[in-house]
Amino acid sequence: MALRSRILGCGSYLPEKIVTNDDLAKFVDTSDDWITARTGIKQRHMVTDGELTSDLARKAALNAIEHAGIDVQDIDLIVLGTTTPDNTFPSTATKVQAQLGLTHGFAMDVQAVCSGFMYALATADSFLKTKQAKTALVIGAESFTRLLDWEDRTTCVLFGDGAGAVILRAEEETAESSGILSTHLHSDGRYQDILMVDGGPSSTQTTGYVRMAGKEVFRHAVVNLAEVVKEALAANDLTADDIDWIVPHQANKRILDGTAKKLKVDPNKVVVTVDKHANTSAASIPLALDEAVRDGRIKRGDLLIIEAMGGGLTWGSALIRW
Ligand code: COA
Repeated sequence: MALRSRILGCGSYLPEKIVTNDDLAKFVDTSDDWITARTGIKQRHMVTDGELTSDLARKAALNAIEHAGIDVQDIDLIVLGTTTPDNTFPSTATKVQAQLGLTHGFAMDVQAVCSGFMYALATADSFLKTKQAKTALVIGAESFTRLLDWEDRTTCVLFGDGAGAVILRAEEETAESSGILSTHLHSDGRYQDILMVDGGPSSTQTTGYVRMAGKEVFRHAVVNLAEVVKEALAANDLTADDIDWIVPHQANKRILDGTAKKLKVDPNKVVVTVDKHANTSAASIPLALDEAVRDGRIKRGDLLIIEAMGGGLTWGSALIRW
């Protein structure tokens, strides 16, 4: 009997500190008008001294565990998407594993930058379907503002911090069963230079800062995201009209609008949080998902598509029956 990964619950966490565009304009040569017009971002949450990615991840995870109504000891797999681990090693996933009091199963980080949650979800889904685990905690968590060069106004206004998580359980697949219907992942390393961090353990022995060719990234995003959504729909014999909700990676409101337009999807079906959270990289999809589930927009039985593109370039989509 084939297995399907069912999503039992979701959760999220945002650092308490909020920084508005006007706050930023006090120390960066920018303005609320410019940021709002180009990106749709109005504010972002930011970690403070001593607040770690693992702290955000753990809080989102506990929130998801409660929402799913499972015993924490049921979890036998943790996959955590992050580009801002607490340390180069061990993985932040193993730290969260210990913090949750788990000593069985296995835990790993996945690095695909803004596609990190997509990649983590697809990785967990594969382990569940091949019976290597039964209950997975999938997290996207970032303290991305730690990678920002506050002298570079073309990047520092775009990002924020946060975490989101989902609980997956392998269940027997039936025609009606909900869960992850498909995942599609892609990468193309030829474009590694247009969105990258200029440091790392083996290159500079420093952490480095985000560097980005914004216009080029924008162009690739709209094309790749529309394509990978169409790929998911075709693989499931569905059309864009069948989708109830798009829960996209939240990079920029103009990318969300451009992708919806290319797909001919009603913009009201797109879950938007970029105005409040900015781009939280691997955390943005589970943060948006959790918001739309908890405020009642996403209901059991709805058809969702999640999609993301990030540095690498990496991109992907997952079709989910909620
Ligand atoms: N505040 C004020 N002015 C700014 C600014 C800021 N924060 N950042 C750049 N500018 C200025 C530039 O210096 C430039 O001025 P100039 O015309 O005098 O040279 C002008 O604004 C236009 O800059 P440009 O880079 O052409 O803007 P843009 O329309 O491409 O918008 C982005 C910039 C970054 C918002 C846009 O390219 C984008 O969203 N790209 C995708 C980024 C992304 O989402 N990356 C993550 C993907 S996971």
